[in-house]
Amino acid sequence: MEVAKTTESVRALVKTARGQGKRIGFVPTMGALHIGHVSLIEAAKQHANFVVVSIFVNPTQFGVGEDFEKYPRPIEHDLEICREQGVDLVFAPTPAEMYPGENFTWVTVEKLTEPLCGQFRPGHFRGVATVCAKLFNIVQPDAAFFGQKDAQQAVVIKRMVADLNMPLEIVVCPTVREPDGLAMSSRNQYLSPSRRKDAAYIYKSLQKCRQMIDAGITDTGKIIAEMRKILSQVPAIKIEYVSIVDAETLQSVDRIAGKVLAAVAVRLGPARLIDNILMDAKKK
Ligand code: PAJ
Repeated sequence: MEVAKTTESVRALVKTARGQGKRIGFVPTMGALHIGHVSLIEAAKQHANFVVVSIFVNPTQFGVGEDFEKYPRPIEHDLEICREQGVDLVFAPTPAEMYPGENFTWVTVEKLTEPLCGQFRPGHFRGVATVCAKLFNIVQPDAAFFGQKDAQQAVVIKRMVADLNMPLEIVVCPTVREPDGLAMSSRNQYLSPSRRKDAAYIYKSLQKCRQMIDAGITDTGKIIAEMRKILSQVPAIKIEYVSIVDAETLQSVDRIAGKVLAAVAVRLGPARLIDNILMDAKKK
């Protein structure tokens, strides 16, 4: 496995792989790799025969007072996981390599970045879209792999790629969960043992949503009220939002019809946690 720190060396290594007729699969990450990330690497290996993983805690997607400084950076362990998974190339740039000076050019995806996390993390998706555009230009993959766990991010990146005619496919992979349903996340490390137990209520609220939709309930107001009831059983959970939106436009829906996304964001102790489920009301 090669480890590259510069754009120049990534380009040279990818060029060689391409010259050998290889298809390039790319998994962008911020490191602190877990089984959720590994599932994306596995998917990339199925679609491609040269797999690139980037590890970069992107400063431009963190707001003031967010966890940029304390975000975990266990680089040696991450490299070990990549090696075990048969990754071909890890791109682990420094902030100065990615942003050598003041950045003048930003990618803003409109509308889709306003609801859900957009309301609580102003500028976040601008940072995500910009760094992904930069990484796609550096790696030039045939396909890039994202997790459903960050549903809004996946919708935003798909739209950016379509609107800007970027020549790659975006593949969205299912959310990987702990045995109690908690979605795997690098930020779960912030939870104390008792907060970690509390966190299971996030998925419980999403399961309630699924049950109600399966039972034919279509009034999203009723469903959201029940989901909030479950979350409010845990005093430490501070709800940011509980929303049911159209899975493509991310606009709130009053009645369940077609593909909907039920999405939850909470603060729990020192962590901000998000999760969601995708449901197709027509396919029960
Ligand atoms: P990060 O949080 O490290 O996540 C990298 C990728 O792993 C994302 O596509 C995310 O959706 C996926 N992922 C995280 N937890 C998952 C889980 N439990 N199951 C399945 N996939 C999961 O998302 C980012 O980094 C950054 O915003 C990035 C895209 C790298 C841009 O900086």
